[in-house]
Amino acid sequence: MSNQVKIFDTTLRDGEQALPASLGVKEKLKIALALERLGVDIIEAGFPVSSPGDFKSVQTIAREIKNATVCGLSRALDKDIDACGEALKVADHFRIHTFIATSEIHVGAKLRKTQDEIVEMAVQAVKRARRYTNDVEFSCEDAGRTNIDYLCRMVEAAINAGATTVNIPDTVGYTTPTEFGGIIKNLFNRVPNIDKAIISVHCHNDLGLAVANSLAAVEQGARQVECTINGLGERAGNCSLEEIAMILQTRQAMLGLNTNIRSQEISRTSKLVSNLCNMPVQANKAIVGANAFSHSSGIHQDGVLKAQNTYEIMTPESVGINKNNLNLTSRSGRHVIKHRLMELGYKESDFDLETVYEAFVKLADKKGQVFDYDLEALLFFSQQKHEH
Ligand code: KIV
Ligand code: ZN
Repeated sequence: MSNQVKIFDTTLRDGEQALPASLGVKEKLKIALALERLGVDIIEAGFPVSSPGDFKSVQTIAREIKNATVCGLSRALDKDIDACGEALKVADHFRIHTFIATSEIHVGAKLRKTQDEIVEMAVQAVKRARRYTNDVEFSCEDAGRTNIDYLCRMVEAAINAGATTVNIPDTVGYTTPTEFGGIIKNLFNRVPNIDKAIISVHCHNDLGLAVANSLAAVEQGARQVECTINGLGERAGNCSLEEIAMILQTRQAMLGLNTNIRSQEISRTSKLVSNLCNMPVQANKAIVGANAFSHSSGIHQDGVLKAQNTYEIMTPESVGINKNNLNLTSRSGRHVIKHRLMELGYKESDFDLETVYEAFVKLADKKGQVFDYDLEALLFFSQQKHEH
């Protein structure tokens, strides 16, 4: 089995779907170009049948993007698949992603069809998509809550019909990592033609487990992860691209898996998506939050000044951030104050550390965070006191 995990980005489809206002063609193209620079393998650019605007965006992205496969989403309906084919045909190579729900609740209550009818619709959809391209992905919507025997039957039928990627979504973020990994393991053990397709996963974050579930799936042989920048997506969002990519990179020695992601592009891509989508990133979000490389405790600050990896498992530079941030608060110690003053251009002989530190702690207790200009003011007043 290959050790390459494909990164399928759906920021422009599942992510955009969850925004209060949809993005225009220009904004979508900017994001697509950033995703291409980031090194994603597949960009899901939209759902062409859903609106003329989405059709245009998918078409524009398909025309402009050369180093990633552009993909469009369609239900298992002829008109959706044809709209995808039409929008994408301007690209040299493209993917059609077609899906239908497979869980009992979706098949019965939403689609009001029998299981046999659903298998037939899936097969027909895959075959129709294959008329346009030999790169066809089929998704079993709500696979996480689908009976495993039926799921195996669906996956086998989709591959026989010509699907080259079969996606197993945990659409409502219901499963746990052991359970979801178990579903993937079962598919590998039970579906006879499974090696003819790439198994993909698409996890939602309703219980905060989207990344953990995707990782569990990859450990069981899934070789495509569907994800979004900053974890944007329906409800609590999707698996976050930056988190899964940095897990695979940081723990490469243990997992033995690679992606094509250029991790130094992560920070600027995250900022671009956050700005264009008007979706701020929470400060303590892993990898891209403002605090992800900030240290506040004096013990931690002293540690990272002595050896960065005491409290950093990856470098800020590896995700495109210039340097870490040592917050000056009442928890900070003398070591970081001296270090910051020297970074600001002062020599050791310019200040008496004890005097400055004493004034610093008093100010930090009143003010919370102390900034560089505060520190310089403290230094100035302590020098004045000394002179008189
Ligand atoms: O969450 C989901 O099941 C989806 C499918 C369309 C892949 O977004
Ligand atoms: Zn989804």
